[in-house]
Amino acid sequence: MTDHLDAIAANKARWEEVVDVHLRSDGLEDGYDIAGAKAGTNRLTVIEEAELGPVDGLDVLHLQCHFGLDTLRLRRLGARVTGLDFSAKAIAAARVLFEDAGETGRFVEGDVYAAADLIQDRFDLVFVNWGAINWLPDIFAWARVVAACLRPGGRLYLCESHPAGLMFDHESDLGEMVRGRVALRFPYFHRPEPTVLEEADYADPDAQMANTVSHEWSHPISDILNALIQAGMNLEWLHEHDRIAWKLLPIMEKDEHRLFRLPPDFPIRVPLSLSLSARKSS
Ligand SMILES: C[S@@+](CC[C@H](N)C(=O)[O-])C[C@H]1O[C@@H](n2cnc3c(N)ncnc32)[C@H](O)[C@@H]1O
Repeated sequence: MTDHLDAIAANKARWEEVVDVHLRSDGLEDGYDIAGAKAGTNRLTVIEEAELGPVDGLDVLHLQCHFGLDTLRLRRLGARVTGLDFSAKAIAAARVLFEDAGETGRFVEGDVYAAADLIQDRFDLVFVNWGAINWLPDIFAWARVVAACLRPGGRLYLCESHPAGLMFDHESDLGEMVRGRVALRFPYFHRPEPTVLEEADYADPDAQMANTVSHEWSHPISDILNALIQAGMNLEWLHEHDRIAWKLLPIMEKDEHRLFRLPPDFPIRVPLSLSLSARKSS
């Protein structure tokens, strides 16, 4: 991946900085529940739990694993886990997390596009969740990596923000938003050039950060599916949900499952996340 090197380097600097912010976010309203994950008292989201299926005894690759919190949850479900992330700090923190939790797992530092070269093993399941593909400029190259990392008959589980939900302007006028009028600001269809955004951290919006700019790419559902098909993957199912794992808009409410929804009186139901299962041919 030689395009967009500056944008990706800037994203990486931001993610490196964010790791410490997230490690300190336990206890904040939208922070990471690290103590709960270590103790095994919290789990993947209800969406993932309902759809993922058994992972006990499977070799699972968690791409863009951040500091390994969901990788630990997968481990607690019985998977043999490998996590990959391009942030050295995230990988170091994931190793500490697993050591503290008394669990075994392998963590690899590297760009997602190099995953199949960096990791020689092949997997039963590639797991990708919440806030991953929006950092990637080329969804077709990503799908080829996913397929290359899988054994024949292996499966991808993806649970992500919905590209339609990502169109909303989170800085729309709050009063208008409460009345159900939210402006559209971001593209649905893919553009080669990233959307460049100055934004606060989702887990700790008050964190003071040096790297505040992010570069993100939208991937319409058609591109995600065509990318997987072209990579030799067979779609098993695709679901759309009206909930998401972070507060996409300030008017959203957290439900009893730690997922965020638009308020009940919001005039329309909008897709906020999607999930899919796709299998590599045997
Ligand atoms: C929002 S986090 C994903 C959170 C994750 N779903 C979890 O379990 O907590 C996005 C992650 O993607 C990583 N990332 C972004 N671009 C990447 C790339 N090109 N290669 C590898 N990791 C990348 C970041 O370092 C960050 O840890």
